[in-house]
Amino acid sequence: MSPKDGRAPENVEWWEKAVFYQIYPRSFFDSNGDGIGDIPGIIEKLDYLNDGTTNSLGVDAIWFSPFFKSPHFDFGYDISDYYDIDPRYGTMEDFDRLLEEAHRRNIRVLLDLVVNHTSIEHPWFKESRSSRDNPKRDWYIWRDGSDGGKKPPNNWKNNFYGSAWTWDDHTEQYYLHSFLKEQPDLNWHNPEVREAIYDVVRFWLERGADGYRLDVAHHYCKDPFLRDNPPFILRQKSEYVMPWHDRLPALNLYYYLQLPELQVPRYNKHQPETHRILKDIRSILDSYPEKTSVGEIQSEDPRITASYYGDDDELHMNFFFDLMFCRWKAKAFKRCIDRWEGVLPNEAWPAYTLSNHDQMRAFSRYDQKGKGDKRARLLAMMLLTLRGSPFIYYGEEIGMKDAKIPRERLQDPLGKRWYPFYPGRDGSRAPMQWENKPGAGFTDGEPWLPVGPELTERNVANQEEDPNSLLNFYRRLIWLRKELPPLQTGSYRSLEDGVPFDCFIYLRELEQEKIMIALNFSDLNKKVHLTKEEKVFDVLISTKPEREATTGNVLELEPGEGCVLRL
Ligand code: GLC
Repeated sequence: MSPKDGRAPENVEWWEKAVFYQIYPRSFFDSNGDGIGDIPGIIEKLDYLNDGTTNSLGVDAIWFSPFFKSPHFDFGYDISDYYDIDPRYGTMEDFDRLLEEAHRRNIRVLLDLVVNHTSIEHPWFKESRSSRDNPKRDWYIWRDGSDGGKKPPNNWKNNFYGSAWTWDDHTEQYYLHSFLKEQPDLNWHNPEVREAIYDVVRFWLERGADGYRLDVAHHYCKDPFLRDNPPFILRQKSEYVMPWHDRLPALNLYYYLQLPELQVPRYNKHQPETHRILKDIRSILDSYPEKTSVGEIQSEDPRITASYYGDDDELHMNFFFDLMFCRWKAKAFKRCIDRWEGVLPNEAWPAYTLSNHDQMRAFSRYDQKGKGDKRARLLAMMLLTLRGSPFIYYGEEIGMKDAKIPRERLQDPLGKRWYPFYPGRDGSRAPMQWENKPGAGFTDGEPWLPVGPELTERNVANQEEDPNSLLNFYRRLIWLRKELPPLQTGSYRSLEDGVPFDCFIYLRELEQEKIMIALNFSDLNKKVHLTKEEKVFDVLISTKPEREATTGNVLELEPGEGCVLRL
């Protein structure tokens, strides 16, 4: 039986049943009052994530954005020592304690593997830069300029702004960086680089980490001939690419930053050699028990994105980011999921998220005309009932929205560069809202970023008290998912016949058990005819707190309501 057909939970790996939670360490909990979150702070809050009872969120794993040593040009995504914890966040001892305390609560720990590039301050780069004949010169990608040396070697753009090449006066060559100039790209074609990184991978696994999130893995290998990218107009149209009518209008410029590049990234992303590397990393992971990986591999075409599952020998999971860019229309979400399910290999296990540290939070994206709270519940229900592992971004469970960051407090280099056209990514990285007090209960000091809006209601303490809060809804959903095998590992099938307009309805089936998820994206009442004959069905949970626990054969959904029922 393949995962697509559904399998009994006892026959699957832990990560296929797990609910994941992403922590941006800088913003979760500050234990020492310096305004920056830290590892001891995270440890204090582990019970909130899972204390083994339904009074906690019940998450099974955490993915940590990087807390390794870094000069923080890109807030930890520029690592200067892969073998140490950044002192802002704590020490190696703190990390070991974090692992121990998380594992004691049955929470697994995924680290962020940021190995497309290092920091400019990494000793490898310092050596590489020191002279053209340094043994580490070829660990990075150095080239003479074109046009007699005056221009960059080719036309590649970096993902943030401008050319992907920066001139180095000292050795009079250009080096390649797919992101900031402070993040030089490693040369993955060099076997010594590969071995050095594989050692890093082993190191944290040996120490007890349960796996990795792979940062921008589609960038690892570059065209060996460094050919120019073709102009944007030459991009291939494909029916697999999310159509414009399903896509959110350009709320989020970061996603569209590719457009100003006006080129197709044919030679600097998605190179065939990258699959080799993922196979190597997979075999390292598989040489230990129970390790996993999730890729941050993005492409316009889901068939390319899916190819990184390999033949069940590359990534264990890969995020499908199209879900974050759907318009608020049932059809857009349905088409998005169906397209992904359609191209995924049988053995592949999906991973979904609605928000992360690079994108505007989901509830800011969809909070038009004050409809955010209803929509937050509907999205939560969808995320936690699709086939695949859900990743919750910290604060999503209390409906946190993006903070408004005044220009003088911007931290993200992208925001600083593109303001006011695009304020950058700080909004979604604002402090976790624990309590309604200055610093949001995140810090006793001055938080490194301003706190988000509507703190009085959007905070953990307040929502813990209210049985009908979003937080308690998340808790119920997560614990329900653990009790209902079809929700964890059942097959997925979306329905078309008889589905009312602007509703997304799908089944999760396992053996004889059939669960229906009915989501009403519209502002109207909708009737779903479950069977022709009179019958009573259990409503296991609804986004509407006061709904009765059963329904007749016609399920009446209120505007924006979602229900999970047993058929
Ligand atoms: C990934 C990270 C992002 C970072 C970039 C460069 O996309 O999620 O935060 O800026 O990689 O490392």
